[in-house]
Amino acid sequence: TLFEQLGGEAAVTAVTTQFYANIQADATVSNFFNGINMADQTNKTASFLCAALGGPKAWGGRNLKEVHANMGITNDQFTTVIGHLRSALTSAGVAADLVEQTVAVAETVRGDVVTA
Ligand code: HEM
Repeated sequence: TLFEQLGGEAAVTAVTTQFYANIQADATVSNFFNGINMADQTNKTASFLCAALGGPKAWGGRNLKEVHANMGITNDQFTTVIGHLRSALTSAGVAADLVEQTVAVAETVRGDVVTA
């Protein structure tokens, strides 16, 4: 699975931590996370991604369409955030083809997250 190829839960969590660091350093998308506990956010998104990448534990959290419903996230903002995931994977030394396969999995939630 992609989960195994990336190096399992620890590797996915490390990438997710860098993903949110990149987001928080980008004023075009950082405001969405004002007042959000980023340690919790990192753990939730890492758990979601582990499951989506074929890891052994099912996602036990909320439905992503309901979670993001009232945020007004645009397609361009989503694309920006995907770019921050791509950078996090690349800076962790993940091979380019595996980066793109992982990004493709994250892209599957675009329709649930984008509402504007
Ligand atoms: C929750 C923003 C994309 C997965 C949240 C929350 C915010 C947010 C602010 C916190 C909601 C709350 O606790 O009140 C955004 C923005 C995105 C984006 C601005 C893109 C522009 C994504 C993507 C994924 C994702 C691509 C998955 C790959 C999650 C998960 C939660 C969450 C798993 C927590 C759900 C739960 O509480 O069970 N998002 N998100 N988000 N987001 Fe996103």
